[in-house]
Amino acid sequence: MSQFSHVPKPIPDPILYINALYNQDTNPNKVALGVGAYKDENGKPWILPSVRKAEEIISSDLAKYSKEYPPQAGYPLFLKTCQELMLGDDHIALKENRVATCQSLSGGGSLHVGLCFLNENYEGHDFYFPGITWPTHFVLYEKVYRKTPYFEYTYLYEDGKLAIDFEGMKRDFVNARDGSVFLLHACAHNPTGIDLTKQQWVEVKDIFKAKKHVAFFDLAYQGFATGSFEEDGYSVRMFAEEGVEMVVAQSFAKNFGLYGERVGACHIVHSDKHNSQLSANLQGVMCTIIRKTWSMSPVHGAYIIQTIGQDPELKKQYFEDVKTMSSRIKKMRQMLYDELVRIGTPGDWTPIKTCIGMFTFTGLTPAQVEYIKVKFSVYLLVQGGRMSMCGLTEKNVAYVANAMKQTVENVK
Ligand SMILES: Cc1ncc(COP(=O)(O)O)c(C=O)c1O
Repeated sequence: MSQFSHVPKPIPDPILYINALYNQDTNPNKVALGVGAYKDENGKPWILPSVRKAEEIISSDLAKYSKEYPPQAGYPLFLKTCQELMLGDDHIALKENRVATCQSLSGGGSLHVGLCFLNENYEGHDFYFPGITWPTHFVLYEKVYRKTPYFEYTYLYEDGKLAIDFEGMKRDFVNARDGSVFLLHACAHNPTGIDLTKQQWVEVKDIFKAKKHVAFFDLAYQGFATGSFEEDGYSVRMFAEEGVEMVVAQSFAKNFGLYGERVGACHIVHSDKHNSQLSANLQGVMCTIIRKTWSMSPVHGAYIIQTIGQDPELKKQYFEDVKTMSSRIKKMRQMLYDELVRIGTPGDWTPIKTCIGMFTFTGLTPAQVEYIKVKFSVYLLVQGGRMSMCGLTEKNVAYVANAMKQTVENVK
């Protein structure tokens, strides 16, 4: 008998589980609206033209783009590109040398590094998540903080209204202990698709400054909400300008379509102007965390990012590619909304066109999510009936709308 026979069956990850069910489904009409991964107008994965071009450049010069170990923090050009994409080229925090950056494993790895950094170096703080968030945040937190409980701050209204309860949110920020850490979705909140307005971000920043709270930004969708890095980077850029101390977990999975390359960065932005020793120390601490966890980050995705980021023509093309993705999602939002209304689907479907980013909270109940899956092979996430808009195409949108109509009519 195996010495490992006591090992229990693990609880499946809700998002990966939905994807596995979808892959096994033999219905030719099946539609994957669970996982947040962009698909083109034919429902196929899309390699960005700018990424293809960068790969050609890399493969034509393998002496320059070698397979050697990179520096522990990552290549300097890569780190510079990450900072510039996040903050813009001439941000004051860069000029004041207040940003420490380390390459990491996409968004998940960067969140892990940020959590380890805070847990090991920032004693006695309370950690807050939004009342509704990406479920993986909790498992990442628990892996690092173990039994230390986290808190939640208000996000949506409790009565089910699909809008941010901003007064409740501010109340929670104000009532928290000074110096608490708050996980904030920088843009395109997952799963709700509902973000703060610029004015609201400014109010939040004022509270954070007054209370010396630390902002832990999850920056997984920059460019995906509006098609513009500047617009989507507003919260992070403004907080950094105002000297709010923060950690940023930056992912290039979605906005570069580099899901499987696992490329991203963890940044710590501090408030000590021109204290480059502090920046170096913070980078060094992140390097130590990485050394103890996965040792070295992979180079290929980093080469792609730095090649695009440091070539003005390619960068221009890249920003066009991002617009292509975000515009297609916006178009699908409008088409689904129009079709739901046209066929008289009971309910208010306005959030489908007003939400931003990859996801919409449809408000379908768990029973309805199960029904639409079994009856129509349409796969949504159970949590709030979260729908990834990326799986919709002009060919399947009428099918999905009809499935939703039948579902809300038949399952109350
Ligand atoms: C809110 C949020 N943060 C971070 C991530 C990180 O993804 P990855 O580790 O693939 O970059 C995701 C991916 O779905 C996400 O939705």
